[in-house]
Amino acid sequence: MNPSSLRPTHSPFPLKTNPQKPFLLRLNFSPRRRTTINSCLNLDLEQPTTAPNSEKLGLGSSKDVMEMEAKVLVGTYARSPVVLATGKGCKVWDVEGREYLDMAAGIAVNALGHGDEEWLRAVTEQAGLLTHVSNVYYSIPQLELAKRLVDCSFADRVFFSNTGTEANEAAIKFARKFQRFSNPDNKQPATEFISFTNSFHGRTMGALALTSKVQYRSPFEPVMPGVTFLEYGNIEAARKAIQHGKAAAVFVEPIQGEGGIHSATKEFLQSLRVACDDAGALLIFDEVQCGLGRTGYLWAHEAYGVYPDMMTLAKPLAGGLPIGAVLMTERVAAAVNYGDHGSTFAGSPLVCKAAVAVLDKIRKPGFLSSVSKKGQYLKELLVQKMQGNAHVNEVRGLGLIVGVELDVPAAPLINACRNSGVLVLVAGKGNVVRLVPPLIISEQELEHAANILAGCLTVLDSN
Ligand SMILES: Cc1ncc(COP(=O)(O)O)c(C=O)c1O
Repeated sequence: MNPSSLRPTHSPFPLKTNPQKPFLLRLNFSPRRRTTINSCLNLDLEQPTTAPNSEKLGLGSSKDVMEMEAKVLVGTYARSPVVLATGKGCKVWDVEGREYLDMAAGIAVNALGHGDEEWLRAVTEQAGLLTHVSNVYYSIPQLELAKRLVDCSFADRVFFSNTGTEANEAAIKFARKFQRFSNPDNKQPATEFISFTNSFHGRTMGALALTSKVQYRSPFEPVMPGVTFLEYGNIEAARKAIQHGKAAAVFVEPIQGEGGIHSATKEFLQSLRVACDDAGALLIFDEVQCGLGRTGYLWAHEAYGVYPDMMTLAKPLAGGLPIGAVLMTERVAAAVNYGDHGSTFAGSPLVCKAAVAVLDKIRKPGFLSSVSKKGQYLKELLVQKMQGNAHVNEVRGLGLIVGVELDVPAAPLINACRNSGVLVLVAGKGNVVRLVPPLIISEQELEHAANILAGCLTVLDSN
């Protein structure tokens, strides 16, 4: 099938390129907004928007970039064949000037979309003041961010890292330290961990050990020993395993992202809480993907009314800059001493100032309720437009983390959507289309995404 035939005739997102200058983007900003953005970025938007080096390297077209990259980068990523150059709001453009509606948001990272003005102002101002100092010294933005996170969560204290996997590594260490600290006479304090089917916690040796997909772990074994995987949602299995008393902590995503958009039940999380309390194990919620407003709640666990001892965060926290965080109660933090853990880069003034801007925006009145409303609308649209198709098993999720489960691989549908100007992600066993757009997305943009997804479903019959 020719994917271009799937392009709607009246796309609300027409290409805005100049055929004479294919790399020249004309973003339709008002003159005032254009001046603000130009002065912030020191950018002339009339200039070609290819990466500055691409001409010097003899790179211009997507094809050139892809060919060159294949020669110099380690092949860890199966990339989609798109070379993105610019973004604004929920749209991104490739180096040829093709426009895409971004329903992927850098894998649930760009919560405020691309180039949010308040975020941009915070970053540019802080970059002019101080970018990095290391954790040898104090800095104000780190304190500002920590104070906000503590004020708006169950937690008393925060540890910063740079990524989600690092946040989970830190939580692993803190859990083990907690067990030693709180059972000083026990010669064999609990050191093991419990994790669940379809979980994803990261790719470093500890977090990888907690990640359920065997093919991620097996080429690198031995990973951290002592992890038991239980069926996600199986209350009885969890109760039995935790009762055993060997687990330092239980790691669980209240809503699993990579695993295929599976939501925990309230009873499941409640039973984990009770079992952990009875056995002296810590309950750790990994909200790297589902946290920070994505579900329409600031923290996904608020939807369940169950609270953890630690929570790990990352993806959207700094609006696209690398950050991770472990939030914890005083009881856990009391076990952690100078030198137990650390990072050169974590909590830098630049990244923390960006995160303060993100958090302040997400916490503005009406922001979270708009995420809930838009998430509900997106699910309704998808059900209405796709449920008649025999390949669609289920539309599920909460807020703006939504999955469409198919009875066949999702790749052909994802490729067809991309060719029709909408970026979506895969999840689960390759059979789930994952939609995690910027939280600022409009209803009109959601309608466009749903139309394209539904219109592209026909590719599933020809594959
Ligand atoms: C729930 C969850 N935890 C941890 C991670 C790892 O985060 P990072 O890729 O920043 O290391 C991810 C990444 O997708 C995730 O979804």
